[in-house]
Amino acid sequence: MALTKKILVTGGAGYIGAHTVVELINAGYEPVIIDDLSKSDRTLLEGIEKITGKKVNFQKGDCCDKVFVRDVFKTQGPFSSVLHFAAYKSVGESVQIPLTYYQNNIDSLVTMLAVMKENNVTDFIFSSSCTVYGQPDQIPVNESAPFKRAESPYGATKQMCERILEDAHLNGYRVISLRYFNPVGAHPSAQLGELPIGAPNNLVPYVTQTAAGVREKLTVFGNDYNTPDGSCLRDFIHVVDLAIAHVKAMEYLAKRPEDKLCEAFNVGTGVGVSVLQLIDKFEKATGVKFAYTIGPRRPGDVEKVYADPAKVNAALNWKTKYTLEESLLHAWQWEKKIRNIQ
Ligand code: WQD
Repeated sequence: MALTKKILVTGGAGYIGAHTVVELINAGYEPVIIDDLSKSDRTLLEGIEKITGKKVNFQKGDCCDKVFVRDVFKTQGPFSSVLHFAAYKSVGESVQIPLTYYQNNIDSLVTMLAVMKENNVTDFIFSSSCTVYGQPDQIPVNESAPFKRAESPYGATKQMCERILEDAHLNGYRVISLRYFNPVGAHPSAQLGELPIGAPNNLVPYVTQTAAGVREKLTVFGNDYNTPDGSCLRDFIHVVDLAIAHVKAMEYLAKRPEDKLCEAFNVGTGVGVSVLQLIDKFEKATGVKFAYTIGPRRPGDVEKVYADPAKVNAALNWKTKYTLEESLLHAWQWEKKIRNIQ
């Protein structure tokens, strides 16, 4: 594949995709965004332009639409890599509408791979998830942990997608799957952040919306787990750290053009933090208290999961830089900006 700076970013109008587009531009690449705006709008595209001063190349459409994807490759290519973020990603929501998750997350992947093949593009960075492990037997969890039964349809789609990518690799694709833990926070400029549609499924946007008075109170989904304070443990990673990991992964492939690579990396901080600890850290980092109550467990949740990031730290020469307090402060600054709170 002729080396070009053009990178295709699917789901690039979304939370993690938009932050990655900024880091790609900062690194001198020319990202082309595909997004159907089903779970986002143009706000983050505007934020990218404000941060970088560059016009964004945005192609509105669905990754499941082969005609549309073919046209993007034809008119906007050639691409040296594809970064694939486009997928539905709520653990809780996937339990309610599993077939929508299976159709969208798997069809979009297979369609993208097929059109890449037609255009001789092999390098693929996949947005995977720690939910592929189910409830790991050992934590911190490393990449050799087995895929147990996923606790949610969302996690099951990521397991199936990784299997598809292993088989695609045997047919010439070069793949890196980045298994995210819990992406949180916002760009320090407060020009990018999470923009959930409706009531947030995820913890941190629910926290910031409650702190902003948009929600009456946060419900902590269970405090009877086998953890120090009874609430679930997670690995909360700053979204900018995660975005930079994508650029590093793409360059890792580009620097090894002859290697038939198929790798997976656990991308986390390596630190487990509970829901109740996060609430406490938010209040300490921002000085803002908010109401919360303890409610029943949420179906699909795993009890505790956090990363052993040794493999990604070594292979990509990358590790997280932001603290959880900084993530929470950035998330709060973003919330205040979109709510016009001083
Ligand atoms: C975190 C904790 C909830 C909301 C995320 C991503 C998913 C995947 C895995 C990347 C859980 C609790 C939440 C609330 C709560 N990452 N919670 N009250 O489920 O870990 O999944 O990481 O692929 O895409 O979404 O994240 O933020 O929904 O929940 O108590 O109102 O917070 O029970 O223990 P989750 P989450």
